[in-house]
Amino acid sequence: MQISKASDAVGAIVEDVDLKTISDDQFAEIRSAFFDSGALFIKNQNLAPEDHIAFAERWSDIDINRFFTPVEGYPQIAQVLKEPDQEVNIGGVWHTDHSYDQVPAMSSILYALEIPPTGGDTLFAGMAAAYDGLSDEMKARIDGLKARHGNAHVFGQQSGYSEQTGGRVGNQQSAGQEAIHPVVLAHPETGAKGLYVNPGFTLNIVDMAEEESTTLLKQLYEHIMQPQFHFRFQWREGDIAMWDNRSTWHYALNDYQGHRRYMHRITVQGVALH
Ligand code: OGA
Ligand code: MN
Repeated sequence: MQISKASDAVGAIVEDVDLKTISDDQFAEIRSAFFDSGALFIKNQNLAPEDHIAFAERWSDIDINRFFTPVEGYPQIAQVLKEPDQEVNIGGVWHTDHSYDQVPAMSSILYALEIPPTGGDTLFAGMAAAYDGLSDEMKARIDGLKARHGNAHVFGQQSGYSEQTGGRVGNQQSAGQEAIHPVVLAHPETGAKGLYVNPGFTLNIVDMAEEESTTLLKQLYEHIMQPQFHFRFQWREGDIAMWDNRSTWHYALNDYQGHRRYMHRITVQGVALH
């Protein structure tokens, strides 16, 4: 097994390993590379749904997503699918998964089954690198702030997201979860400070006037959107990308109209954040 840095800001590439047969020592190495880098790109796997589930369960219990259509026979696995005639994809904005939950998911483990002939890359951003790159003034300004996150505007009845994604997002009546989390998070495993707000699900900064909150979030987002904090992953079939939802953002590029892209996703449980 070889593990190498994906970019300065986020991620590590894992090669020459078969996740079906890893030892406890190899898993420990994978685990520490994951928390240190925020995301792993594990190349060239051949996993049945059972193998994907078994790998996920080495990390934590599975956190079943309320909204995505599951793979038939495997309620633990969500379909992340775009059909050739579907225009809007899943995850096509900068976001992190499940920040609207009281106890947000630790990681999403995405396994590529079908990749379009070109395009369909996923962008990642590293929240610790982005935090480190802030001015001292900004660090002082956001110290101790909290933000409110929610999902009704994405997964709720009114959002239109379900229709746009070809009915692949369901259960809209159970949307509406909200949670308050720190804007600067000391990572629960490493203690490294990172930004924990995202354009997908963060609604506002708590106890701040709306206009000021909107301006501050925009300023942070523009900072994080700078390419020095990113890595662009180009998929091959059989690859896994798994990311830490507490220390990264991701963005599924939607530049392959007319082609099919199909992934299986398992989300694993995290811990309460403070
Ligand atoms: C997700 C997601 C990214 C992709 O599954 O949470 O945002 O590249 N997917 O499909
Ligand atoms: Mn996502």
